[in-house]
Formats: sequence, C-alpha cells, structure tokens
Amino acid sequence: MRVNYVLGNWKLNNQRKDIDDWLEVFKHTAKAGVRVGVSPTLGYLDYMSGKCEGLMVGAQNVSEFDQGAFTGEVSAAMLSDLGVSFCLVGHSERRQFFQETNEKVADKVKGLLSHEIIPVICCGESQVEYETGQAKEVIGAQLSAVFSRLEVSQLSKVVVAYEPVWAIGTGLTATPEVAQEIHQFIRQFAGDFFGSVAAQSLSILYGGSVNEQSAAELFAQPDIDGGLVGGASLKPTSFMQIIEALS
Ligand code: PGA
Repeated sequence: MRVNYVLGNWKLNNQRKDIDDWLEVFKHTAKAGVRVGVSPTLGYLDYMSGKCEGLMVGAQNVSEFDQGAFTGEVSAAMLSDLGVSFCLVGHSERRQFFQETNEKVADKVKGLLSHEIIPVICCGESQVEYETGQAKEVIGAQLSAVFSRLEVSQLSKVVVAYEPVWAIGTGLTATPEVAQEIHQFIRQFAGDFFGSVAAQSLSILYGGSVNEQSAAELFAQPDIDGGLVGGASLKPTSFMQIIEALS
C-alpha cells in the first residue's frame, strides 16, 4: 500500500499573521494512509514547526551542498535540525528562474535522503513540449538523472510530483485522463530502474491548478496518489476540501 499525500506549496506567500489566520481555520483530521503537509518559505519553517498536530512542515528548496561558503543557502542538515519532514526539489519555477538542473536535483535528493527528509521530486513538461508530444521524453530525462543514483530501497522514501508547467498557476488542470497517462508512464519508468514491485511503492502526486473542484476526479485515477497544491493551499477551507477529496 502506498502512502497518499496532499502537500501545499505556499511559494513566496504567507507571513506570521497569515500563518496564524490559516492555522485558526485549518482543522487537521488524521486519515489512515494520508499524509498532509505545507511548505512555507524558509524564514517561517521554525515558526510553523509543531503548530498543528499531524501537519507536516516542508521546505521549498535545499542546497546541494552540506556546508561552506554558499551565501543564502540552507543545507539538508539544517532543515533536519528544524524538524522539516519533506522538501520540494526541481520545481519548475526553480528550474526556470534558478538554474536548477537535473544533476543538481539529483544531488539535492541524495542530501535530503541522508537526513531522512522526503524529497518531493517535481517534474513536468512545458506547454511547447506538451504540444509537440515530448512530455514523456522530458520527464524521462528529468527522472533518470535522479533514479540512476538511487538504490531500490530508497524508492519508497521519495515522492514524485508530476506538474505540467502549462498547468501551474494557470487555472488549466490536466484532464484526469492526461494526468493518469503520465502517472502510469512515470510508474513504468520507475519500474524499468527498480522493478515493477518496487515501482508500486512509489507515491506520485499531481500538481498544477488543483482545486476543490478538480481534486476528486484526479485523485480517483489509479496512479495518482494525491496532490501538490499551490494557489488553493493558501485558502485553508479549499485545502481541507482537497484533503477530503482524497479519502
Ligand atoms: P498551483 O501550483 O496549484 O497554483 O498551480 C502548484 C505548484 O506550483 O506546485
């Protein structure tokens, strides 16, 4: 049985007052097999830690380096020290604006795993790549850089998030059929590296304009194990409905 996740990506949003207001409304109900978390910006990880029982706190980025003269960075060891449970890597906004290459993503995944933080490995094709039928090729290249450096026993300790770039923040959600086809491809691709039994243990989340209307149909697909939610996670009531859709 794989773990299901609903994770919120708050991006560059939410200061202390907003976090307090969010927590005031958000009621976390524990559900078997479902893990729920949110990722505030780095500066608020400590503030969020332990504020809501059962709600995991995650980071949006980590350095590929352990320590040293890397101004502005944060290491996996530091995230672990702050009690962080998961960390996004390779988000398309970081690939686009901060030169996060497939190799850097692979280094970050290794660092996080060595500190027992769950890497949430984001992958996905751009609009042009989607329209020209290159989605699987692009995703394959993004994931093979990471998978080629993992042991089979580590597959159940990572999460993959399929986030088509054209669906992020645009209000254009992939249809459940399109998303399922890519999720199935990702699972098969993992199977090519680690065997089909191990690939069944991999949690694969969908991200890209998930909201309370689209969540249930997406989550009903056999290879979709939950969601990575941006905009809708900023509204606690929407986020709660999305979690509800995963039951
Ligand atoms: P969105 O963002 O839900 O606002 O499209 C998702 C993400 O970037 O992780």
